Amino acid sequence: LNIGQSSSGFAKKPIIIVVVGMAGSGKTTFLHRLVCHTKASNIRGYVMNLDPAVMTLPFGANIDIRDTVRYKEVMKQFNLGPNGGILTSLNLFSTKFDEVISMIERRADELDYVLVDTPGQIEIFTWSASGAIITEAFASTFPTVIAYVVDTPRSESPATFMSNMLYACSILYKTRLPLVLAFNKTDVAQHEFALEWMKDFGVFHAALDSDHSYTSTLTRSLSLALEDFYKNLRSVGVSAVTGAGMDAFFKAVEASAEEYMETY
Ligand code: GTP
Repeated sequence: LNIGQSSSGFAKKPIIIVVVGMAGSGKTTFLHRLVCHTKASNIRGYVMNLDPAVMTLPFGANIDIRDTVRYKEVMKQFNLGPNGGILTSLNLFSTKFDEVISMIERRADELDYVLVDTPGQIEIFTWSASGAIITEAFASTFPTVIAYVVDTPRSESPATFMSNMLYACSILYKTRLPLVLAFNKTDVAQHEFALEWMKDFGVFHAALDSDHSYTSTLTRSLSLALEDFYKNLRSVGVSAVTGAGMDAFFKAVEASAEEYMETY
């Protein structure tokens, strides 16, 4: 777990793991599993919740946006709908984010990881100014890794798989941070098909053969374009429900963080 000093000047610090994923991919269950795993393995974790609208969390958060911003009040006061309410709450919280960073810095010696849960609607975090401010604040102070949770059973269709990968790719290019793909729900469907599709586009094209639509031609071309993206990430299979794949996930995070520290 000791990633040590890097040549770039990043001291040994907690690694920030920002968990994102499509609604229903199992993000919250996955984060809960990470929290349980860190506790059971004597890994010193700190938990941060950035979802102002979540009613109950299955895990305790050390830093919780809900302690600072009242989402329902924000909706009322600014006359907003649910998504506008979440976005504005995140904006308000991001103005105080330097204090959050200082708080983590003060505890840096006692922490291995900071596990960050993001709002259920992925684009609220990944495409907002406050999401960018928060991500950049993390990344300029600590080694930061994005964990993109994929619903594996739902990605067994090549077209759905491609949409999911395009989204992950857009996050990589937007944040410019190392990305770990966590293929979740492997208790229901193993993720080997995805690894094959990413490694060999011939296999992916064969899977597309039964689909003769216009989108299948597009999907074929896109799979070639994504070759570079696939080379720039790490993939692991996990099950948030059974706990399978946790060690592999943390290994992938550490390798990504080490690479990040060497590069920046
Ligand atoms: P939020 O958007 O933050 O609410 O999280 P989420 O919607 O991405 O996922 P959530 O954790 O609520 O999980 C969605 C559904 O997937 C729930 O019914 C979970 O029980 C189920 N689920 C999550 N992880 C796994 C898994 O590893 N295996 C199986 N079989 N089901 C899972």
